[in-house]
Amino acid sequence: MAIRNIVKRDDDVLYKKCRPVEVFDEKLHMILDDMKDTLTKANGVGLAAPQIGILRRYCIIEVDEGFFELINPEIISYSGKQRGVEGCLSCPNDWGYVTRPNKVKFKAQNRFGEWYEMEANELFARAVCHELDHLDGKLFVDLIEERVQVQD
Ligand code: CO
Repeated sequence: MAIRNIVKRDDDVLYKKCRPVEVFDEKLHMILDDMKDTLTKANGVGLAAPQIGILRRYCIIEVDEGFFELINPEIISYSGKQRGVEGCLSCPNDWGYVTRPNKVKFKAQNRFGEWYEMEANELFARAVCHELDHLDGKLFVDLIEERVQVQD
């Protein structure tokens, strides 16, 4: 396992649409393991493949509910609203209020290609929306309603 470099917002790779994952092999598993180490070291909530320079549709999320690998994820339905401060490991100096759905139902494949469905609430729902945006080449900074200064 290894720590991967997280690209920052000046990198073109963050603005491209990712292609679906088609092969669920050892290489994918190794990258997912590296992403987990990278996320833990960065003390983040989520990390999407384009953030380590890979234009494929997968991401990982670590929240109170557990650790999740979302491969080829799709949102099935969403409801409610939450407004909260959001940040991104690719945008270390940007923090701000973003409104997201409060509840999201999604489906995704696991690392073996098996589909699962899950309901996410609050921070988990926010993370699902944020990470799925990355897979479409979108950054949360475009959704900031009010900027927040965070002291180092
Ligand atoms: Co992000």
